Amino acid sequence: MARQASRYVCQECGAAFAKWSGRCDACGEWNAIVEEQPRPATPRGLGVGQGTAIELVPLAGSEADAPRLASGIAEFDRVTGGGLVAGSALLVGGDPGIGKSTMLLQVAGALAGAVPVAYISGEEAVDQIRLRARRLGLGGSPVRLATATGVRDIATTLDGGEVPRAVVVDSIQTMYVDTLESAPGTVAQVRASAQELIHLAKRRGFCLLLVGHVTKDGAIAGPRVLEHMVDGVFYFEGRSSHEFRVLRALKNRFGPTDEIGVFEMTGRGLIEVSNPSALFLAERRSDVPGAAVFAGMEGTRPVLVEIQALVAPSPLATPRRAVVGWDSARLAMVLAVLEARCGIGLAGRDVYLNVAGGMRIAEPAADLAVAGAVLSAASDRAAPSDAVMFGEIGLGGEVRGIGRPALRLREAAKLGFARAIAPAQGGGEAIPQAGIEITEIGHLSDLVAMFGPPRAAPDAAWPQAGGV
Ligand code: TYD
Ligand code: MG
Repeated sequence: MARQASRYVCQECGAAFAKWSGRCDACGEWNAIVEEQPRPATPRGLGVGQGTAIELVPLAGSEADAPRLASGIAEFDRVTGGGLVAGSALLVGGDPGIGKSTMLLQVAGALAGAVPVAYISGEEAVDQIRLRARRLGLGGSPVRLATATGVRDIATTLDGGEVPRAVVVDSIQTMYVDTLESAPGTVAQVRASAQELIHLAKRRGFCLLLVGHVTKDGAIAGPRVLEHMVDGVFYFEGRSSHEFRVLRALKNRFGPTDEIGVFEMTGRGLIEVSNPSALFLAERRSDVPGAAVFAGMEGTRPVLVEIQALVAPSPLATPRRAVVGWDSARLAMVLAVLEARCGIGLAGRDVYLNVAGGMRIAEPAADLAVAGAVLSAASDRAAPSDAVMFGEIGLGGEVRGIGRPALRLREAAKLGFARAIAPAQGGGEAIPQAGIEITEIGHLSDLVAMFGPPRAAPDAAWPQAGGV
C-alpha cells in the first residue's frame, strides 16, 4: 500500500495543502503553513461483525434525563440558552487577558454548589488558581482542580471514578495528544485534543467548556475546524480600556445566538450587569454635539448605547472614515445617502464614528442614530438630550420601520428619555405609546432639517485637495 504523504496545514485557518508554500492560499497568512504527519487511515473493508452493535432508540423518547445545568449567574445562563446541556461541548473564545479564565472559574464555582465540577488548567498552577479563587470569594468552593496538558491523562481521569457534571479545560491550545508529533497549539493538536475530549463528554454525559484563544484577526481558536466540532461557540469580548465585558453566542445548538451577557470587571471578579443601558450611558454628556442615543436590541433585550461622531476638516486627498463598534461599509452608505438624497456633502472631511463604552452593534436599525450623530457633529448642534433614535435608512433616503419598537421605547422611557426620533412603522401598524413622545421621520431629510446644514469647513486652514 502506498505510504500516505504528509499534508501541509495552515495554522491560522486550518486549510490543508499537498505542498508547502510561504503564504496560505485560503486566508492569505504568511509563514503559517506547517507540515503534518497523516493520521493512520482506516483500513479498507472493515468487515461486518467486528464492531460493537450500537443501540437504536425511538425518536419519541424523552430527553429530560438530565435537565440543563443553570449556574445561577443570569447573564451566563441567558447566553447559553438557559444553562448547560449534558454531553454538550462549548467553546469560549476571547483575547488573552480579557477574563475567560476568571469567568469560567466563577461559573465553575457557581455550578459546584449543586453538582461535581472539575477545572483543568494547562496554563496556571493549582496555587495560582487557588489564589484567584480566593480573590473571587470562591476560596471554600468544592470545585476540583488539576493542572494538566496531556489529553490521555485527562481522559483517563474523567473516565473513571466519579464523573463531574461539568468540566472546564483552560485552554484547548495547551492540550496535546501523545499520538501526534506536532506541538501543542498546532491545528492538528487542537483538533485531535478537542475531538478526544468532546467524544468523552458525549459518552460520559458531562458538559465540556473549552477555553480557546483567538488569532489576531479575531477568529476563535485559529483553527475554524473547532467551531464545527462543538455545540456552541461563545465569544468573550470587551476592550481592555473598559471595565465591562460582553459574552456573545456565535453558534449555539441549544439556544439563541443573538443574546448577550454583560459583566462588569472588578477587583473581585466579574459582576453581572442586569441593566446594561444604564452602564453604557453612565458617562454620557448630553449637551455635546456629535452624539445620539440609539435604542437597540440585543437578542430579546433592549440596550441603549451612545453613538458618537466627529467630523473634522481633512488634510488628506481621500478623507478618513474610521469606525469603532459598527460596520464601516454601513457608515459609507449612510454618508452616501446623506450626500445624494439630502445634499449634505462631507467630502473633504474626516468622519470618525464610535460606539461609546466599547459596545459593538450589528443592527441596521442604528442607521438613523448614526446619521443623527454625524449631522449633529457636522452642524455643531447637540441632538435633543431627551431623545433616542432608531430606524433603518434605505438607499432612497427613506427611513424604514424596524423590529420591536415597543420594547425599545419602553427601555428608553425607563431610563428617563421623553422622546424618540423614529420612523412610522410600516403596514399601518402604529408604534404603541410607552410614555414617550415620537417624532416621526419618513425621510432622512426630515432629520437633516432638525439639525440644519453643516458648518462650513475652515477651508483657509486646510486647503482641500483639488481645490484652488
Ligand atoms: P483572565 O481571566 O486571566 O483572562 P484570560 O483567561 O482571558 O486570559 O483575566 C486577566 C486579568 O484580569 C487577570 O489578572 C485578572 C484580571 N481580572 C480582574 O481583576 N477582574 C475581573 O473581573 C476579571 C475578569 C479579570
Ligand atoms: Mg486564561
